[in-house]
Amino acid sequence: MIYLSGFVGFLLVLTAEARVGNSSELNFCSETEECLLFDLICQTDDYEVRHYDSVNWVSTQESSWSMDYASISAFRRLFAYINGNNIEMTAPVILKISDKTSFWQTGIYTMSFLLPAAHQKNPIPPTDKKVYIKNMTDMQVYVRSYGGWMMSWSDKSQAKILSSDLDSAGAEYDRSFHYGVGYNSPIMVFDRHNEVWYVVQDDPVCGSSEEMGL
Ligand SMILES: *[C@@H]1O[C@H](CO)[C@@H](O)[C@H](O)[C@H]1NC(C)=O
Ligand SMILES: *[C@@H]1O[C@H](CO)[C@@H](O)[C@H](O)[C@H]1NC(C)=O
Repeated sequence: MIYLSGFVGFLLVLTAEARVGNSSELNFCSETEECLLFDLICQTDDYEVRHYDSVNWVSTQESSWSMDYASISAFRRLFAYINGNNIEMTAPVILKISDKTSFWQTGIYTMSFLLPAAHQKNPIPPTDKKVYIKNMTDMQVYVRSYGGWMMSWSDKSQAKILSSDLDSAGAEYDRSFHYGVGYNSPIMVFDRHNEVWYVVQDDPVCGSSEEMGL
């Protein structure tokens, strides 16, 4: 494990420039010209561990008892920002979902659009007070991918599978929220790709055989 973290550190130094880049580099990100790129640290049959560099997003927060309602108004607000400033859509769109204890409890949902490479350094300030630029720090995430549509029910069940896989592996992660991550527009019907992310705490954990593969 100690050897692995040393090696991972070395990898990160080598590839630190990977951030927002050409979508041709990511096979499941095919609808936009630019996508968020990452370094794959390790993977098991159940999940991947990825490293993301610090990137700027445009974000908005919405409180609602329903993730699906919150998503609609948040999406509209962010779309008005990019559309009004002639900014191209990128992928993925991420939704930070705080864990609710009951169905009717109000959840807090933060949606973010990734700013294209040309807008990363000096983002255009939003005029809508509910919209802001968010600098997301460098992070490692546990990732589970799935097809079909990202809705509250599918996101919830996939997050549950990922967290139970992580618990079995003895992984430490922030349990207070997860990210629902979408790569497709609603017009795309086939080959849809979605993900759930939990933020890694401590050293990332993968199965021992996969670590040997590095
Ligand atoms: C992305 O890469 C493809 C193929 O390598 C190239 O044709 C395209 O112009 C690139 N797009 C951008 C925005 O650099
Ligand atoms: C985010 O903020 C940190 C600390 O101020 C800075 O080092 C980093 O470059 C910023 N990231 C981006 C993408 O601007």
